[in-house]
Formats: sequence, C-alpha cells, structure tokens
Amino acid sequence: MQKPPLTLYLAAPRGFCAGVVRAIKIVEMALEKWGAPVYMRHEIVHNKYVVDELRAKGAVFVETLAECPDDRPVIFSAHGVAKSVPAAAQAREMLFVDATCPLVSKVHIEAERHAERGLQMVMIGHKGHPETVGTMGQLPEGEVLLVETPQDVARLVVRDAEKLAYITQTTLSVDDTALIVEALKARFPAIVAPHKEDICYATTNRQEAVKAMAPISDAILVIGAPNSSNSKRLVEVAAAAGCSYAQLVQRAIDIDWRALDGIKSVGVTAGASAPEILVNEVIDAFKTRYDVTVEFVETAEENVEFKVPRVLREAV
Ligand code: F3S
Repeated sequence: MQKPPLTLYLAAPRGFCAGVVRAIKIVEMALEKWGAPVYMRHEIVHNKYVVDELRAKGAVFVETLAECPDDRPVIFSAHGVAKSVPAAAQAREMLFVDATCPLVSKVHIEAERHAERGLQMVMIGHKGHPETVGTMGQLPEGEVLLVETPQDVARLVVRDAEKLAYITQTTLSVDDTALIVEALKARFPAIVAPHKEDICYATTNRQEAVKAMAPISDAILVIGAPNSSNSKRLVEVAAAAGCSYAQLVQRAIDIDWRALDGIKSVGVTAGASAPEILVNEVIDAFKTRYDVTVEFVETAEENVEFKVPRVLREAV
C-alpha cells in the first residue's frame, strides 16, 4: 500500500541545551570517579529516558538530602537548589557536586546582588517548580515574591515600590513573560530589570524555531516530559502561533495517530532535556506510516558549552 506523503519540519535548534549536556556529564563523570551509587537530589534533568539511563549506570534518584547516606556523593540537579541544601550537605560533611546550570546560577547571583542593595525581589516563575524553589531559596523566606500571571502583579503587596527588582525562571514563555513584565513596569515604574534577560538562550531559540514552524505545520509534536517546563512552553507557543494541533509526547508510543489523520505536514521539536535518540524514534514512527520528506526549520545556531566543576575535571 502506498504511504501518503508528509513533510516533516524539524526544528533547529531543538533538544539538549548546554546546561543539560553539562549536568548529564557531571553524573557520568561522578560515577566514573567515585563508582556507584552516586545519589541525585531530584531528577538531574526532567526526562525519564535520561534518568532511566543514568539509573542503570548506578545513579540513585531521591527528592531530599535526608534520603542520602553521609558517605556517598550527591549531585544537585540542573534546576538549582536553595542555599539551605548545600549548607545541610556541608553540615553532614557530605561530598556534593552542584550541577546547577550556570545560567540558573547567574539568576541566583543576581537575586543576591539586588538584595544586598536593599531591593525586594519579584520572581516571575511557576510555583513549586524546582528552579523557582531554588532561586527563591537564595534569599531568606518571604524576601522573594512570586508572580505567575499579570493578575498576580495587581495583587502584589510590596515593602517599598521604589525598591524593587524582578528576576525570572529561565524556561518561561518569552511572550507571556513580556506581558507580566509590562504589568510590573506599569504598576512599579522604578522596578529594576535583569542586567541581561534571565530566560535563557536555549529556551528563547527553541521557542523561535517553533514559531517559525507553526504557520506551515498542520500539527506540531514537542518531545519532552510532562514535568519539563521548557517543553510545556513549546506546546503553548505552538498553539499561540496558530498551529491548530500541538501535543507533548515523551516517546513515539505517545503519538495520537488518530488526531493526526489527514495531515500533510508536521513540525517536530524537542525540549531542552529531551535526547536526540527520541527525536529519531519519532521520525522513524512517521516513516512507517508516511512517505516522509524531512525539511529543517533553522532559526538560530548554537555553540554554547559549559565546563564541568573542577573536582571532576581533575580526577578523571
Ligand atoms: Fe540552562 Fe537554559 Fe538549559 S537555563 S539548563 S541552558 S534550558
């Protein structure tokens, strides 16, 4: 039977960002240096495939430091941790490696600097997301006010409207965040903005590529985990950019083929924590049903790399 033709637009850039590559490398190097088990406080990156692979190599995933023994190394995830976490590890004389993405650490430092200057912080982010918890935890409790929507801005009760600064989670929707920033500036004209955008290069680039694919794709599939903030934002960006069907899939098995019935084109991208092997799996799944022509939609080139912490570089 002849397969129907399908143009598959492949976003570039897509998938792993420099922070995720570094975090995975940290776990692999730690396992090589210290042997198994190495403990991971929280999923190193939000992707089941990556976590399962590392688990098979000897990583043990826990949610709190209390679950880790004193005598095994522990790694903090790419999302960052509150100050109290390394402090508790130090108090127990544990060996720990911080895999916090340097671009998240940049926001942590920014928050501290603003606080030193007497500014109260407003954080734009998602309540309960580990990055938000970690960033807010750089300052004493109650010092950082969280807003998720422009409506939250209207409800803010601040100490001094003249002494405010805002920071953001790194994986937000660029356009939704712009609306919240607008609301903040309208209500608090003196609010201090980040020196350089907090939403990271990888988030911005992946969203731009999706925006370029949306008008030419009958459907868009985002490969990523349901707890991955940047992947979920890509689905929202696709819908906001006019694509009538956008779905988050972890793997090829999650594709809802019935919903795709009759499409002539599909856009495929992957969140910053989704490995390329899963992108290929999805493309192969399309090839079994369609006569696929792959076209790249490239909106940016990326060449960012981050070094792993010295303790690992020296030892391996
Ligand atoms: Fe870092 Fe951005 Fe990736 S903050 S972990 S480079 S999504």
